[in-house]
Amino acid sequence: MWGGRFAEGPAAVMREINASIPFDKRLWRQDIAGSKAHATMLGAQGIIDPADAAAILAGLERVAADYEANGVAEDLTLEDIHMQSESKLAALIGPVAGRLHTARSRNDQVATDFRLWVRDAIDQVDAALVAFQQALLARAEEHADSVMPGFTHLQSAQPVTLGHHLMAYYEMIARDRSRFADSRARGNLCPLGSAALAGTGFPIDRDATAAALGFDGPTRNSLDGVSDRDFALDYLAAAAQTALHLSRLAEEFILWASQPFGFVSLSDQWSTGSSIMPQKRNPDAAELVRGHSGRIIGCLTALMITMKGLPLAYSKDMQDDKPPVFEAHDLLGLSIAAMTGMVGSATFRTARMRAAAEAGYATATDLADWLVREGGIPFREAHHITGSAVKRAEQLGVALDQLPLADLQAIDARIDARVYTVLSVDASVASRMSFGGTAPARVRAAIHAARTGEAG
Ligand code: ARG
Repeated sequence: MWGGRFAEGPAAVMREINASIPFDKRLWRQDIAGSKAHATMLGAQGIIDPADAAAILAGLERVAADYEANGVAEDLTLEDIHMQSESKLAALIGPVAGRLHTARSRNDQVATDFRLWVRDAIDQVDAALVAFQQALLARAEEHADSVMPGFTHLQSAQPVTLGHHLMAYYEMIARDRSRFADSRARGNLCPLGSAALAGTGFPIDRDATAAALGFDGPTRNSLDGVSDRDFALDYLAAAAQTALHLSRLAEEFILWASQPFGFVSLSDQWSTGSSIMPQKRNPDAAELVRGHSGRIIGCLTALMITMKGLPLAYSKDMQDDKPPVFEAHDLLGLSIAAMTGMVGSATFRTARMRAAAEAGYATATDLADWLVREGGIPFREAHHITGSAVKRAEQLGVALDQLPLADLQAIDARIDARVYTVLSVDASVASRMSFGGTAPARVRAAIHAARTGEAG
Protein backbone atom coordinates (compact mmCIF):
# COMPACT_ATOMS: atom_id res chain seq x y z
CA MET A 1 0.00 0.00 0.00
CA TRP A 2 2.93 2.30 0.57
CA GLY A 3 5.82 0.35 -0.94
CA GLY A 4 6.79 2.95 -3.56
CA ARG A 5 9.63 4.56 -1.66
CA PHE A 6 10.89 1.38 0.07
CA ALA A 7 13.60 -0.97 -1.14
CA GLU A 8 13.15 -3.60 1.55
CA GLY A 9 10.12 -5.10 3.30
CA PRO A 10 9.60 -4.80 7.04
CA ALA A 11 11.29 -7.02 9.61
CA ALA A 12 9.09 -9.79 10.92
CA VAL A 13 8.78 -8.14 14.32
CA MET A 14 8.09 -4.80 12.67
CA ARG A 15 5.21 -6.44 10.88
CA GLU A 16 3.93 -7.90 14.11
CA ILE A 17 4.21 -4.77 16.23
CA ASN A 18 2.66 -2.72 13.44
CA ALA A 19 -0.34 -4.90 12.76
CA SER A 20 -3.74 -4.13 14.24
CA ILE A 21 -5.69 -6.66 12.18
CA PRO A 22 -5.83 -9.20 15.06
CA PHE A 23 -8.13 -6.80 16.93
CA ASP A 24 -9.37 -4.18 14.48
CA LYS A 25 -11.01 -6.84 12.33
CA ARG A 26 -13.93 -6.21 14.69
CA LEU A 27 -14.43 -2.95 12.75
CA TRP A 28 -15.17 -4.64 9.44
CA ARG A 29 -18.85 -3.69 9.25
CA GLN A 30 -18.05 -0.07 10.04
CA ASP A 31 -15.15 -0.09 7.58
CA ILE A 32 -17.38 -1.29 4.75
CA ALA A 33 -20.09 1.24 5.66
CA GLY A 34 -17.53 4.08 5.72
CA SER A 35 -16.08 3.06 2.37
CA LYS A 36 -19.53 2.81 0.78
CA ALA A 37 -20.44 6.30 1.96
CA HIS A 38 -17.11 7.64 0.70
CA ALA A 39 -17.33 5.92 -2.72
CA THR A 40 -20.92 7.12 -3.20
CA MET A 41 -19.88 10.68 -2.42
CA LEU A 42 -16.83 10.50 -4.73
CA GLY A 43 -19.09 9.38 -7.58
CA ALA A 44 -21.78 11.98 -6.86
CA GLN A 45 -19.19 14.77 -6.77
CA GLY A 46 -17.61 13.59 -10.01
CA ILE A 47 -14.27 13.08 -8.23
CA ILE A 48 -14.27 9.57 -9.63
CA ASP A 49 -16.27 8.28 -12.59
CA PRO A 50 -19.78 7.28 -11.40
CA ALA A 51 -19.32 3.93 -13.17
CA ASP A 52 -16.16 3.31 -11.12
CA ALA A 53 -18.04 4.27 -7.97
CA ALA A 54 -20.75 1.75 -8.84
CA ALA A 55 -18.15 -0.97 -9.42
CA ILE A 56 -16.53 -0.16 -6.07
CA LEU A 57 -19.89 -0.25 -4.26
CA ALA A 58 -20.78 -3.62 -5.77
CA GLY A 59 -17.32 -4.91 -4.88
CA LEU A 60 -17.65 -3.71 -1.28
CA GLU A 61 -20.90 -5.66 -0.98
CA ARG A 62 -19.02 -8.77 -2.02
CA VAL A 63 -16.21 -8.10 0.44
CA ALA A 64 -18.80 -7.75 3.19
CA ALA A 65 -20.52 -10.98 2.15
CA ASP A 66 -17.16 -12.73 2.25
CA TYR A 67 -16.40 -11.41 5.76
CA GLU A 68 -19.87 -12.43 6.89
CA ALA A 69 -19.42 -15.95 5.56
CA ASN A 70 -15.75 -16.60 6.33
CA GLY A 71 -14.69 -14.07 8.93
CA VAL A 72 -11.72 -11.75 8.52
CA ALA A 73 -8.34 -13.39 8.00
CA GLU A 74 -5.55 -12.21 10.28
CA ASP A 75 -3.02 -11.48 7.57
CA LEU A 76 -0.31 -9.43 9.27
CA THR A 77 1.14 -8.31 5.96
CA LEU A 78 -2.07 -6.35 5.43
CA GLU A 79 -1.65 -4.57 8.78
CA ASP A 80 -5.19 -3.51 9.45
CA ILE A 81 -8.84 -3.92 8.47
CA HIS A 82 -8.62 -0.98 6.06
CA MET A 83 -5.82 -2.56 4.02
CA GLN A 84 -7.44 -5.95 4.29
CA SER A 85 -10.70 -4.64 2.81
CA GLU A 86 -8.98 -2.67 0.07
CA SER A 87 -6.86 -5.63 -0.95
CA LYS A 88 -9.92 -7.88 -1.05
CA LEU A 89 -11.69 -5.29 -3.14
CA ALA A 90 -8.77 -5.13 -5.56
CA ALA A 91 -8.76 -8.91 -5.87
CA LEU A 92 -12.46 -8.80 -6.79
CA ILE A 93 -12.72 -5.77 -9.08
CA GLY A 94 -9.16 -5.04 -10.17
CA PRO A 95 -7.23 -1.72 -10.30
CA VAL A 96 -10.37 0.45 -10.12
CA ALA A 97 -10.36 -0.43 -6.41
CA GLY A 98 -7.39 1.92 -6.13
CA ARG A 99 -9.72 4.89 -6.75
CA LEU A 100 -11.57 4.35 -3.47
CA HIS A 101 -8.81 5.90 -1.39
CA THR A 102 -9.01 9.24 -3.26
CA ALA A 103 -9.40 12.17 -0.83
CA ARG A 104 -9.16 9.81 2.13
CA SER A 105 -6.50 8.61 4.57
CA ARG A 106 -6.52 5.69 6.95
CA ASN A 107 -6.39 8.36 9.64
CA ASP A 108 -9.86 9.72 8.95
CA GLN A 109 -11.01 6.24 7.94
CA VAL A 110 -10.12 4.64 11.27
CA ALA A 111 -11.46 7.56 13.27
CA THR A 112 -14.77 7.20 11.40
CA ASP A 113 -14.93 3.42 11.77
CA PHE A 114 -14.18 3.59 15.47
CA ARG A 115 -16.80 6.26 16.11
CA LEU A 116 -19.36 4.11 14.33
CA TRP A 117 -18.32 1.10 16.38
CA VAL A 118 -18.53 2.95 19.69
CA ARG A 119 -21.95 4.30 18.71
CA ASP A 120 -23.20 0.75 18.14
CA ALA A 121 -21.57 -0.35 21.38
CA ILE A 122 -23.45 2.34 23.29
CA ASP A 123 -26.74 1.17 21.78
CA GLN A 124 -26.00 -2.41 22.86
CA VAL A 125 -25.06 -1.35 26.37
CA ASP A 126 -28.17 0.76 26.69
CA ALA A 127 -30.42 -2.14 25.69
CA ALA A 128 -28.68 -4.37 28.25
CA LEU A 129 -29.04 -1.72 30.95
CA VAL A 130 -32.76 -1.38 30.20
CA ALA A 131 -33.15 -5.13 30.76
CA PHE A 132 -31.22 -4.83 34.02
CA GLN A 133 -33.46 -1.98 35.16
CA GLN A 134 -36.53 -4.09 34.36
CA ALA A 135 -35.18 -6.88 36.55
CA LEU A 136 -34.56 -4.40 39.38
CA LEU A 137 -38.06 -2.95 39.04
CA ALA A 138 -39.71 -6.37 39.12
CA ARG A 139 -37.86 -7.47 42.25
CA ALA A 140 -38.33 -4.06 43.91
CA GLU A 141 -42.05 -4.26 43.37
CA GLU A 142 -42.17 -7.75 44.83
CA HIS A 143 -40.24 -6.53 47.88
CA ALA A 144 -41.66 -3.05 48.39
CA ASP A 145 -42.70 -4.12 51.93
CA SER A 146 -39.81 -6.47 52.79
CA VAL A 147 -37.99 -4.95 55.72
CA MET A 148 -34.25 -5.25 55.99
CA PRO A 149 -31.60 -3.41 57.97
CA GLY A 150 -30.27 -0.32 56.27
CA PHE A 151 -26.60 0.18 57.03
CA THR A 152 -24.12 2.96 57.53
CA HIS A 153 -20.55 1.91 58.30
CA LEU A 154 -21.99 -1.57 57.66
CA GLN A 155 -23.62 -1.23 61.09
CA SER A 156 -27.35 -1.65 61.36
CA ALA A 157 -28.67 1.91 61.07
CA GLN A 158 -32.37 2.21 60.28
CA PRO A 159 -34.81 -0.25 58.76
CA VAL A 160 -35.37 0.12 55.03
CA THR A 161 -37.16 -2.04 52.51
CA LEU A 162 -35.44 -4.32 50.05
CA GLY A 163 -37.50 -2.65 47.33
CA HIS A 164 -36.03 0.71 48.28
CA HIS A 165 -32.53 -0.74 48.29
CA LEU A 166 -32.96 -2.23 44.81
CA MET A 167 -34.42 1.03 43.52
CA ALA A 168 -31.23 2.79 44.61
CA TYR A 169 -29.48 0.72 41.92
CA TYR A 170 -32.21 1.61 39.43
CA GLU A 171 -31.27 5.26 39.96
CA MET A 172 -27.54 4.59 39.49
CA ILE A 173 -28.22 2.78 36.23
CA ALA A 174 -30.48 5.60 35.06
CA ARG A 175 -27.54 7.99 35.50
CA ASP A 176 -25.21 5.55 33.74
CA ARG A 177 -27.58 5.41 30.79
CA SER A 178 -27.66 9.17 30.62
CA ARG A 179 -23.85 9.27 30.63
CA PHE A 180 -23.78 6.87 27.67
CA ALA A 181 -26.46 8.93 25.92
CA ASP A 182 -24.41 12.10 26.46
CA SER A 183 -21.31 10.52 25.03
CA ARG A 184 -23.27 9.18 22.07
CA ALA A 185 -24.63 12.63 21.29
CA ARG A 186 -21.27 14.34 21.70
CA GLY A 187 -19.39 11.77 19.62
CA ASN A 188 -21.85 11.59 16.77
CA LEU A 189 -19.86 13.73 14.34
CA CYS A 190 -18.08 12.40 11.29
CA PRO A 191 -14.29 12.76 10.86
CA LEU A 192 -14.36 11.39 7.30
CA GLY A 193 -12.94 14.03 4.97
CA SER A 194 -10.35 15.22 7.47
CA ALA A 195 -8.07 13.07 5.29
CA ALA A 196 -4.57 12.60 6.74
CA LEU A 197 -4.72 15.73 8.90
CA ALA A 198 -5.17 18.86 6.78
CA GLY A 199 -8.32 18.15 4.81
CA THR A 200 -8.19 17.67 1.04
CA GLY A 201 -8.10 19.68 -2.17
CA PHE A 202 -10.72 17.45 -3.79
CA PRO A 203 -14.27 18.90 -3.84
CA ILE A 204 -15.66 16.40 -1.34
CA ASP A 205 -19.06 16.70 0.33
CA ARG A 206 -18.57 16.02 4.01
CA ASP A 207 -22.20 16.67 4.86
CA ALA A 208 -23.22 13.90 2.49
CA THR A 209 -20.89 11.26 3.98
CA ALA A 210 -21.80 12.32 7.51
CA ALA A 211 -25.51 12.00 6.75
CA ALA A 212 -25.08 8.67 4.96
CA LEU A 213 -23.45 7.23 8.07
CA GLY A 214 -26.09 8.59 10.45
CA PHE A 215 -23.87 11.28 11.96
CA ASP A 216 -25.28 14.65 12.97
CA GLY A 217 -22.70 16.40 10.80
CA PRO A 218 -18.96 16.53 10.02
CA THR A 219 -16.32 17.29 12.66
CA ARG A 220 -15.27 20.92 12.40
CA ASN A 221 -11.46 20.73 12.46
CA SER A 222 -9.47 18.24 10.41
CA LEU A 223 -6.57 18.01 12.90
CA ASP A 224 -9.00 17.33 15.73
CA GLY A 225 -11.02 14.99 13.53
CA VAL A 226 -8.15 12.54 13.08
CA SER A 227 -6.56 12.86 16.51
CA ASP A 228 -9.53 13.08 18.87
CA ARG A 229 -10.32 9.96 20.89
CA ASP A 230 -12.55 11.67 23.45
CA PHE A 231 -15.49 9.68 22.16
CA ALA A 232 -13.73 6.46 23.16
CA LEU A 233 -12.69 7.90 26.52
CA ASP A 234 -16.25 9.08 27.15
CA TYR A 235 -17.44 5.57 26.42
CA LEU A 236 -14.85 4.08 28.76
CA ALA A 237 -15.62 6.58 31.51
CA ALA A 238 -19.31 5.71 31.31
CA ALA A 239 -18.42 2.02 31.22
CA ALA A 240 -16.15 2.37 34.26
CA GLN A 241 -18.84 4.17 36.21
CA THR A 242 -21.41 1.53 35.28
CA ALA A 243 -19.01 -1.28 36.19
CA LEU A 244 -18.40 0.40 39.52
CA HIS A 245 -22.15 0.39 40.24
CA LEU A 246 -22.46 -3.26 39.22
CA SER A 247 -19.50 -4.04 41.45
CA ARG A 248 -21.17 -2.49 44.49
CA LEU A 249 -24.28 -4.60 43.98
CA ALA A 250 -22.10 -7.66 43.35
CA GLU A 251 -20.28 -6.97 46.61
CA GLU A 252 -23.60 -6.76 48.45
CA PHE A 253 -24.77 -10.03 46.96
CA ILE A 254 -21.51 -11.69 48.01
CA LEU A 255 -21.92 -10.37 51.53
CA TRP A 256 -25.61 -11.18 51.70
CA ALA A 257 -25.03 -14.71 50.39
CA SER A 258 -22.54 -15.44 53.19
CA GLN A 259 -23.81 -17.63 56.03
CA PRO A 260 -23.57 -14.95 58.77
CA PHE A 261 -25.80 -12.64 56.68
CA GLY A 262 -27.98 -15.18 54.92
CA PHE A 263 -30.03 -12.45 53.22
CA VAL A 264 -29.96 -13.99 49.77
CA SER A 265 -29.59 -17.32 48.12
CA LEU A 266 -28.26 -17.03 44.58
CA SER A 267 -29.83 -19.45 42.14
CA ASP A 268 -27.95 -22.56 41.03
CA GLN A 269 -27.53 -20.94 37.63
CA TRP A 270 -25.40 -18.19 39.15
CA SER A 271 -23.44 -20.21 41.70
CA THR A 272 -20.58 -22.64 41.55
CA GLY A 273 -19.57 -25.49 43.82
CA SER A 274 -16.25 -26.39 45.37
CA SER A 275 -14.20 -29.37 44.27
CA ILE A 276 -13.36 -30.21 47.90
CA MET A 277 -16.08 -28.75 50.14
CA PRO A 278 -19.41 -30.34 49.18
CA GLN A 279 -21.53 -27.83 51.07
CA LYS A 280 -20.25 -24.81 49.15
CA ARG A 281 -22.28 -22.54 46.90
CA ASN A 282 -19.95 -19.83 45.80
CA PRO A 283 -21.06 -16.50 44.29
CA ASP A 284 -18.40 -16.66 41.57
CA ALA A 285 -20.35 -14.65 39.01
CA ALA A 286 -20.80 -11.79 41.47
CA GLU A 287 -17.13 -11.97 42.39
CA LEU A 288 -16.18 -11.79 38.71
CA VAL A 289 -18.43 -8.78 38.16
CA ARG A 290 -16.63 -7.15 41.09
CA GLY A 291 -13.29 -8.21 39.59
CA HIS A 292 -14.13 -7.17 36.04
CA SER A 293 -14.90 -3.65 37.23
CA GLY A 294 -11.21 -3.32 38.08
CA ARG A 295 -10.22 -4.34 34.59
CA ILE A 296 -12.74 -1.95 33.01
CA ILE A 297 -11.40 0.93 35.08
CA GLY A 298 -7.94 -0.18 33.93
CA CYS A 299 -9.06 0.14 30.29
CA LEU A 300 -10.07 3.75 30.89
CA THR A 301 -6.75 4.46 32.55
CA ALA A 302 -4.85 2.74 29.75
CA LEU A 303 -6.36 4.88 27.01
CA MET A 304 -6.05 8.10 29.00
CA ILE A 305 -2.35 7.42 29.45
CA THR A 306 -1.94 6.51 25.77
CA MET A 307 -3.47 9.82 24.74
CA LYS A 308 -2.10 12.28 27.25
CA GLY A 309 1.27 12.96 25.66
CA LEU A 310 0.43 12.84 21.96
CA PRO A 311 1.12 15.89 19.83
CA LEU A 312 -1.34 16.59 17.01
CA ALA A 313 -2.31 14.91 14.80
CA TYR A 314 -2.22 11.12 14.32
CA SER A 315 0.51 9.00 15.92
CA LYS A 316 0.64 5.25 15.76
CA ASP A 317 0.21 5.08 19.53
CA MET A 318 -3.43 5.73 18.72
CA GLN A 319 -3.75 2.28 17.21
CA ASP A 320 -3.66 1.12 20.84
CA ASP A 321 -7.01 2.85 21.38
CA LYS A 322 -9.08 -0.12 20.31
CA PRO A 323 -8.04 -3.05 22.56
CA PRO A 324 -9.06 -1.35 25.82
CA VAL A 325 -12.41 -0.29 24.35
CA PHE A 326 -13.12 -3.77 22.99
CA GLU A 327 -12.05 -5.39 26.25
CA ALA A 328 -14.11 -3.05 28.40
CA HIS A 329 -17.14 -3.54 26.14
CA ASP A 330 -16.94 -7.34 26.32
CA LEU A 331 -16.43 -7.36 30.09
CA LEU A 332 -19.22 -4.86 30.65
CA GLY A 333 -21.65 -6.84 28.48
CA LEU A 334 -20.97 -9.98 30.50
CA SER A 335 -21.21 -8.11 33.78
CA ILE A 336 -24.57 -6.50 32.99
CA ALA A 337 -26.02 -9.80 31.76
CA ALA A 338 -24.74 -11.66 34.82
CA MET A 339 -26.16 -9.11 37.27
CA THR A 340 -29.48 -9.12 35.40
CA GLY A 341 -29.60 -12.90 35.73
CA MET A 342 -28.63 -12.84 39.39
CA VAL A 343 -31.13 -10.16 40.34
CA GLY A 344 -33.91 -11.90 38.45
CA SER A 345 -33.34 -15.33 39.94
CA ALA A 346 -32.11 -14.67 43.50
CA THR A 347 -34.19 -15.83 46.45
CA PHE A 348 -34.29 -13.06 49.02
CA ARG A 349 -34.54 -14.49 52.53
CA THR A 350 -36.92 -11.91 53.87
CA ALA A 351 -37.41 -13.53 57.30
CA ARG A 352 -33.66 -13.33 57.91
CA MET A 353 -33.58 -9.73 56.75
CA ARG A 354 -36.47 -8.79 59.01
CA ALA A 355 -34.91 -10.55 62.00
CA ALA A 356 -31.64 -8.71 61.39
CA ALA A 357 -33.50 -5.39 61.17
CA GLU A 358 -35.27 -6.14 64.45
CA ALA A 359 -32.12 -7.26 66.21
CA GLY A 360 -30.01 -4.20 65.54
CA TYR A 361 -31.94 -1.52 67.51
CA ALA A 362 -32.54 0.00 64.13
CA THR A 363 -35.62 1.88 65.35
CA ALA A 364 -33.65 3.88 67.91
CA THR A 365 -33.97 6.98 65.72
CA ASP A 366 -37.74 6.48 65.68
CA LEU A 367 -37.77 6.57 69.49
CA ALA A 368 -35.71 9.77 69.50
CA ASP A 369 -37.97 11.32 66.84
CA TRP A 370 -41.05 10.35 68.93
CA LEU A 371 -39.59 12.09 72.00
CA VAL A 372 -39.04 15.21 69.90
CA ARG A 373 -42.54 15.09 68.40
CA GLU A 374 -44.60 14.03 71.38
CA GLY A 375 -42.52 15.31 74.30
CA GLY A 376 -41.24 18.54 72.78
CA ILE A 377 -37.75 17.42 73.80
CA PRO A 378 -34.76 18.86 71.87
CA PHE A 379 -33.30 16.24 69.50
CA ARG A 380 -29.90 16.12 71.23
CA GLU A 381 -31.54 15.31 74.58
CA ALA A 382 -33.85 12.79 72.92
CA HIS A 383 -30.78 11.16 71.36
CA HIS A 384 -29.24 10.78 74.84
CA ILE A 385 -32.43 9.31 76.38
CA THR A 386 -32.70 6.85 73.49
CA GLY A 387 -29.08 5.82 73.97
CA SER A 388 -29.91 4.85 77.54
CA ALA A 389 -32.95 2.88 76.34
CA VAL A 390 -30.77 0.93 73.89
CA LYS A 391 -28.29 0.21 76.67
CA ARG A 392 -31.10 -1.10 78.88
CA ALA A 393 -32.50 -3.27 76.07
CA GLU A 394 -29.03 -4.65 75.50
CA GLN A 395 -28.72 -5.50 79.23
CA LEU A 396 -32.07 -7.33 79.12
CA GLY A 397 -31.27 -8.94 75.77
CA VAL A 398 -34.50 -7.71 74.13
CA ALA A 399 -35.45 -5.59 71.13
CA LEU A 400 -36.48 -1.97 71.72
CA ASP A 401 -40.17 -2.69 71.19
CA GLN A 402 -39.96 -5.46 73.83
CA LEU A 403 -38.55 -3.19 76.51
CA PRO A 404 -41.09 -2.96 79.38
CA LEU A 405 -42.70 0.47 79.80
CA ALA A 406 -41.43 0.60 83.38
CA ASP A 407 -37.84 0.41 82.13
CA LEU A 408 -38.47 3.16 79.58
CA GLN A 409 -40.14 5.37 82.16
CA ALA A 410 -37.30 4.78 84.59
CA ILE A 411 -35.07 6.40 81.97
CA ASP A 412 -37.46 9.26 81.23
CA ALA A 413 -40.86 9.78 82.82
CA ARG A 414 -42.19 11.58 79.74
CA ILE A 415 -42.36 8.30 77.82
CA ASP A 416 -45.79 6.63 77.69
CA ALA A 417 -47.34 3.55 76.07
CA ARG A 418 -48.01 5.31 72.76
CA VAL A 419 -44.32 5.01 72.01
CA TYR A 420 -44.74 1.34 71.05
CA THR A 421 -46.55 2.33 67.87
CA VAL A 422 -43.30 3.70 66.44
CA LEU A 423 -40.87 1.06 67.65
CA SER A 424 -41.67 -1.76 65.22
CA VAL A 425 -39.65 -1.97 62.02
CA ASP A 426 -42.83 -1.83 59.94
CA ALA A 427 -43.94 1.37 61.63
CA SER A 428 -40.48 2.77 61.14
CA VAL A 429 -40.37 2.23 57.38
CA ALA A 430 -44.01 3.23 56.92
CA SER A 431 -43.26 6.57 58.57
CA ARG A 432 -40.47 7.44 56.12
CA MET A 433 -42.82 9.13 53.67
CA SER A 434 -40.53 12.03 52.76
CA PHE A 435 -39.88 12.25 49.00
CA GLY A 436 -37.28 9.62 48.15
CA GLY A 437 -37.84 7.84 51.47
CA THR A 438 -38.19 4.13 52.17
CA ALA A 439 -41.92 3.96 53.02
CA PRO A 440 -43.50 1.16 50.94
CA ALA A 441 -45.97 3.64 49.49
CA ARG A 442 -43.07 5.84 48.36
CA VAL A 443 -41.23 2.87 46.88
CA ARG A 444 -44.31 1.87 44.90
CA ALA A 445 -44.65 5.44 43.66
CA ALA A 446 -40.98 5.42 42.58
CA ILE A 447 -41.50 2.15 40.70
CA HIS A 448 -44.58 3.58 39.04
CA ALA A 449 -42.71 6.74 38.06
CA ALA A 450 -39.87 4.64 36.61
CA ARG A 451 -42.31 2.53 34.58
CA THR A 452 -44.24 5.46 33.20
CA GLY A 453 -41.13 7.40 32.31
CA GLU A 454 -41.71 10.12 34.90
CA ALA A 455 -38.32 9.22 36.39
CA GLY A 456 -35.00 8.91 34.53
N1 ARG B 1 -4.15 0.72 11.85
C1 ARG B 1 -4.16 2.15 12.11
C2 ARG B 1 -4.90 2.43 13.42
O1 ARG B 1 -5.61 1.61 13.88
C3 ARG B 1 -4.83 2.86 10.99
C4 ARG B 1 -4.30 4.23 10.77
C5 ARG B 1 -2.95 4.16 10.20
N2 ARG B 1 -2.48 5.43 9.79
C6 ARG B 1 -1.17 5.68 9.61
N3 ARG B 1 -0.84 6.85 9.29
N4 ARG B 1 -0.29 4.75 9.78
O2 ARG B 1 -4.74 3.49 14.00
